[in-house]
Amino acid sequence: MKKYLVIGNPIDHSLSPKLHNYWIKEKNINATYDKKKLDENDLKKIISDVREKKINGINVTVPFKKLVIPFLDELSIEANETKSVNTIYLNDNKIIGHNTDIAGFELAIKYSKYDLTNKEILILGAGGVVSSIIFSLKKMRVSKITISNRTKKKAEDLKNLFKDLNIVDWGNIPNFDVIINATSIGLNKAEEIKLDYSKIGPNKLFYDVIYNPTETNFLKKAKASGNRTENGKMMFIYQAHQAFTIWHKLMPKIDDEVIKLVE
Ligand code: ATR
Repeated sequence: MKKYLVIGNPIDHSLSPKLHNYWIKEKNINATYDKKKLDENDLKKIISDVREKKINGINVTVPFKKLVIPFLDELSIEANETKSVNTIYLNDNKIIGHNTDIAGFELAIKYSKYDLTNKEILILGAGGVVSSIIFSLKKMRVSKITISNRTKKKAEDLKNLFKDLNIVDWGNIPNFDVIINATSIGLNKAEEIKLDYSKIGPNKLFYDVIYNPTETNFLKKAKASGNRTENGKMMFIYQAHQAFTIWHKLMPKIDDEVIKLVE
């Protein structure tokens, strides 16, 4: 039986096992997919298990997407350019690190039928997933990307990867067409990002990477001020779908039943 894992810390909240195991069953594959909470010291060992074929594939989530890189043999172009890995597998005895968050975000935007071409984007946050979102936005030919993060240094580090990024201080809201919450504010339902909605709307796109809860205060208030909103559900499903396809060389379905698994 093949063995797959998602690793992170914390990991309890992860819905990846639910999705992957659903598709494993759909495709009649002899495999299991579990979640495992790790410490940084455990990364080397767990990745060596991939070389020894004790584990056939690993998904990586917060806070390890960058930290796993030194233990891998090769990175895909996407993983290398974002310095972020969320999918690991063995190919020709080499441990490959790939990034399916990029395609996940792009496919989610396509699914929402929103055209990002020439749009001005404001990203709140500079954590693990932001380099993938930036890479994806650039592929979709947005006109301007601005980052605002509480810890400015982390936004500046992203500028080493993407030279044309604009950075503003946390709390400073420049003009935008699309605003993306990539902070963890809102994971806890009561939390809220302080924004003056009266000065912002209407008719902007508010995108929240968070999908649980389904509607953060960020999205709730945006909607009440006449803006369009999307949560991170489809990005999550599409990144999982891409990883599944790479590992099993089979394309499972994404239908209402699959989408409901994540609600
Ligand atoms: P990591 O930073 O380990 O990759 P993450 O969940 O991907 O973790 O990122 C968390 C993001 O939410 C960061 O941008 C963080 O800002 P800092 O870089 O300043 O830590 C942001 N964040 C979390 N709580 C926040 C808060 N109360 N106010 C502002 N930003 C917050």
